[in-house]
Amino acid sequence: MRVLGIETSCDETAAAVVCDDRTILSDVVLSQLDEHRPYGGVVPEIAARSHLDHIDRLVAQAMDEAGIGFEELDGVAATAGPGLIGGVMVGLMTGKAIALTRNLPFVAVNHMEGHALTPRLTDGVDFPYLALLVSGGHCLLTAVAGPGDFQRYGSTVDDAVGEAFDKTAKLLGLGYPGGPALEAAARDGDPAAYDLPRPMRGRAGCDFSFSGLKTAVRHIVDRLPDGPLDYTVAANIAASFQAAVADVLADRARNAIARFQADHPGGTTLVVAGGVAANETLRAALADTAEACGMAFIAPPLRLCTDNAAMIAWAGLERLRIGLTDSLDAPARPRWPLDEPAPKPRG
Ligand code: KG4
Ligand code: ZN
Repeated sequence: MRVLGIETSCDETAAAVVCDDRTILSDVVLSQLDEHRPYGGVVPEIAARSHLDHIDRLVAQAMDEAGIGFEELDGVAATAGPGLIGGVMVGLMTGKAIALTRNLPFVAVNHMEGHALTPRLTDGVDFPYLALLVSGGHCLLTAVAGPGDFQRYGSTVDDAVGEAFDKTAKLLGLGYPGGPALEAAARDGDPAAYDLPRPMRGRAGCDFSFSGLKTAVRHIVDRLPDGPLDYTVAANIAASFQAAVADVLADRARNAIARFQADHPGGTTLVVAGGVAANETLRAALADTAEACGMAFIAPPLRLCTDNAAMIAWAGLERLRIGLTDSLDAPARPRWPLDEPAPKPRG
């Protein structure tokens, strides 16, 4: 079984072909970073236009690199949300057009399901498992029992963790995109230099909060002399911020693991996915937490942690093989909670 996946929900235009034996036949990603950098963040209108300019070529390239023709596909999957509506529509319409003209089944994929199912593509993890999804728009802990079968344990009550990294990096003048820049600066800093808050730590439940942490950083920066921040100071703040996030994620994951082990005695794995999962300090903190709780820990390779289309193709493939397809009037959904009831199989 081979599925073409298309991803256009944020600032990466991507197309990929994956096979049900878990091989990635092609995986093409075009980042729009340079187009958004002057604005210090993703500009939705620029993103949508850029997806439109490149998606046809990228799909052709993905098919070419996979070495197969459209007639050898078993389905087409495209991200239908959540994300920036203009971009989502570009990928969704492209996917539908290919499905229609080639008479292939179509799957409308939730971007976060793509992240959540990635460890099955990369490591063959069995259901059920516990997933921590950390990206620019999301921060949530969920039990994953099957495609479309999620039980949310907790999520952020304010900023997503990637958003907190991006905003903090901006405050520190570390450039864009913020997450990788902050991690790089943190390597040169002392994580104990500043005593930053650990929002939610020690509380019952699995929710997150990051806005207080970001505000604490702003107060520190406001008290510093005007002008460009000294790099050593920025590095120390970055390292202290990252250490605080690591503590919070570990604490929340610990609560979620306890709940997961009670709900799913057979489940033994914690996975972390999403763009922020690229962060080595956070990975290490989560790996330690998992080990202390008797769970295995899996984080997909960096390339498959950040946005890509292989994860969308894979999520589509997982849905297809259990008979979950979508009609060609499936809407683009800028907001799309992961844990809403799974749609009934068609036909
Ligand atoms: O999953 P993703 O590629 O796109 C979304 O769906 O949001 O995640 C992007 C987010 C951004 O906020 C980015 O700053 C963050 O992931 N990120 C990181 C790192 N690499 C990317 N955050 C912390 N450390 C990193 N190394
Ligand atoms: Zn993402």
